Amino acid sequence: MRFVPVNILREGMCVGKSVYDRNNQLLLGKGSLIRESYINKLLEMGYQGIYIEDTISSDIEVKDIIHDELRRKTVNIIKDVFVETNHNNNDFSNYLIETKLLMTQIVEELLENRDTIVNLIDLKIFDDYTFYHSVNVAVLSILLGTTLELNKEQLYNLGLGAILHDIGKMFIDNSILNKKGKLTDEEFFEIQKHPQYGYKYLKETFQIPLSSYVAVLQHHEKYNGTGYPNRISKDKISLFAQIISIADVYDALTSNRPYRKALLPSEAIEYIMGNGGVMFDIKLVKRFISKIAPYPVGTGVELSNKYKGFVVENYEDAILRPRIKVVLDDNNKEINGVYFNLRNEKSLRNVTIVSNNLSLTPQLC
Ligand SMILES: [Fe+2]
Repeated sequence: MRFVPVNILREGMCVGKSVYDRNNQLLLGKGSLIRESYINKLLEMGYQGIYIEDTISSDIEVKDIIHDELRRKTVNIIKDVFVETNHNNNDFSNYLIETKLLMTQIVEELLENRDTIVNLIDLKIFDDYTFYHSVNVAVLSILLGTTLELNKEQLYNLGLGAILHDIGKMFIDNSILNKKGKLTDEEFFEIQKHPQYGYKYLKETFQIPLSSYVAVLQHHEKYNGTGYPNRISKDKISLFAQIISIADVYDALTSNRPYRKALLPSEAIEYIMGNGGVMFDIKLVKRFISKIAPYPVGTGVELSNKYKGFVVENYEDAILRPRIKVVLDDNNKEINGVYFNLRNEKSLRNVTIVSNNLSLTPQLC
């Protein structure tokens, strides 16, 4: 299967990876046919693209780093946690217990697949952004944590802080949070209070570890001391907060927002790298980018020798040098059964990826 931007989807193409609607209900199941009406729906919901199965990509396998089902369950429960915040009833604590249980499972799945890297373009929609984003930030934070040899309990505490990092936004007026235009200084000042609101709420109300809610307080601090709320810098910022901050920025950049289009993984990685020593600790940036494929499996790429194809496999020790299934030669002639391994083949040493925005129209089902 391969990733295809919504604008080149056509009726009759075959869905490679299930797509869900804004209530997390199945919209298009794996293997189903795309109809015209769905294309508009996908666009309207804010999908950048979806995974399609066709003959030339049939041997390309795209895997998430945690199971789909676990991810969706966690998104649903974190939605309940956030919505119940501030309602002062028992539902919140019950939902939090459920969240903790799911967090244990996420940590276990990620520890089982220690060698895994993020190798897909996340399918995200506008609605429920906060909830998807919270789960993504938790997964990415734990993944980065695994490279630092944190133990299971530390990873769990990190994940808990990460999934709740923006809970303080529930105390900010919706008219400010959802404002389309430019924020006034007062509104911006108010939004910047969300780390403190979240910290205070979690500290006073519920049983979550100190290291988790301190990370909530500090997740907008920057390595060079220009963040908020306390403008602390370097090691004064807790390790968990520093990790969450990288995951938070990366996931936000790769999401489609009403006011801007999502960046490609390679572009977001470049941004994160450029901010090493500024927003983030350079050592953590290095670990983070070793776990994220800039050219995820199923991405269409053009090479410096003019050949074009799809990424089939990525290697953690050579993240910019994937294995590629070539489908067009340097004269744009279709070819079959040719693979370039940029990491291993000496003859390809000078060949680089020059564009990863290639969108060849998929064949119909
Ligand atoms: Fe935040």
